[in-house]
Amino acid sequence: MPTVSIRPKEKIKTTLNVPGDKSITHRAVILSSLSEGKSTIHNYLDSDDCRRTTGVFRDMGVKIQKFPGGKLSDANLTVEGVGIDGLKQPAGPLDAGNSGTTIRLVSGVVAGQDITCEIFGDESLSGRPMDRIIVPLSEMGSDISAREGKYPPLKIKGNPDLKPIRYALPVASAQVKSCVLLAGMQAEGATVVVDPYHTRDHTERMLAYFGASVKDGGEEKIINGPVKLKAKEIFVPGDISSAAYFVVAGMLVPGSEIEIKNVGLNPLRDGIIKTLLKLGGEIIINNRKDVCNEPVGDIVVRSGRRFSGVTVDEPSLIPSMIDEIPLLVLAATQAEGKTIIRNVAELRVKESDRIKSIATELNKLGARITELPDGFTIEGKTPLKGAGVKSYGDHRIAMTLAVAGLIADGETIIEDPGCVDISFPGFWDVMESI
Ligand code: S3P
Repeated sequence: MPTVSIRPKEKIKTTLNVPGDKSITHRAVILSSLSEGKSTIHNYLDSDDCRRTTGVFRDMGVKIQKFPGGKLSDANLTVEGVGIDGLKQPAGPLDAGNSGTTIRLVSGVVAGQDITCEIFGDESLSGRPMDRIIVPLSEMGSDISAREGKYPPLKIKGNPDLKPIRYALPVASAQVKSCVLLAGMQAEGATVVVDPYHTRDHTERMLAYFGASVKDGGEEKIINGPVKLKAKEIFVPGDISSAAYFVVAGMLVPGSEIEIKNVGLNPLRDGIIKTLLKLGGEIIINNRKDVCNEPVGDIVVRSGRRFSGVTVDEPSLIPSMIDEIPLLVLAATQAEGKTIIRNVAELRVKESDRIKSIATELNKLGARITELPDGFTIEGKTPLKGAGVKSYGDHRIAMTLAVAGLIADGETIIEDPGCVDISFPGFWDVMESI
């Protein structure tokens, strides 16, 4: 099994760019594939997950070309859109790899097309629940079956005469909301998704950017189908979920000052920044602007503060930091007093059971974390000591452990580190460079 070794650092003083946002890249590829004309996507995320989405649209007849540049920000994709109903029957099963976003959003698209297909994934994805999309898509009139009624592979017979529905999200999931909106944009009439959880709204923002606005009735998101999408030039901001590792590194490693340029700061994604500020972190945002309907800015973080434990349980805040909770757990090990994190049971059905995996591995380094059915309690402040730990093949666990290694005494050896390519290709090079 491959490993990487991390040793503690002092004084990280650097300016960085992180790769493009994963959620926004998926949506850019999907909507440009379904639009009329040729789109260009700048600074797209060329990671394993996003390649699954480009792969399945290529398999359904969309011409997508890659023009890698010298710098991350030069890299771009061109996508020759086929229009809202122009996808072709794929020759074989569609491979979503490790990507929940690919399988759930693509299912919403395929549900309204004249296509019969199978979508499968890797071992981790094959254990993740899909009934949350099967229920609404079946209600709209597509024919979907799954292993044990719930797990990939999914077999979908699309229906070009989908019915619009009103659907209240049973779980806080932007993937489910997006799946229903992407099906709804193909159905004749108003599809309404009720989202009391305030999940990320990249699909709504990007639909508006492509010329198909989603009405915002507070908790109700309403799309009137069928829509027409016009090809666009898209600039993808840096991923706040990737930037967050260096924000926490900057807070925890003594003598540090890190600037991260051009990061997406969507208010439904920035819960980690709000919560780290509550812990006592010194974080400043500069150069705020809007790019392609998404807020963007530069983040500056400095170490040197004392941190105190917090309680994080607000159902409306959790979705805005769901992928960063393992990292928050790490930050909380360095805060005085107790941190309580609740209402995050969704973490149990991510790429790994993230409640179990992060608690188990950080405890090996000397943390005092107790698992709760829907969260954690963390007793701080605990010094960390290097040890052998494992990633469970989960990119967010691997990167959180890498940041832990920067403050742990001695050597931290992380098993199976390659999974970072799911969302942050080049992560280990950036670690090396700092
Ligand atoms: C995502 C939504 C979240 C998140 C995932 C990306 C998206 O998943 O964890 O990394 O792009 O819509 P859920 O919708 O399952 O919460």
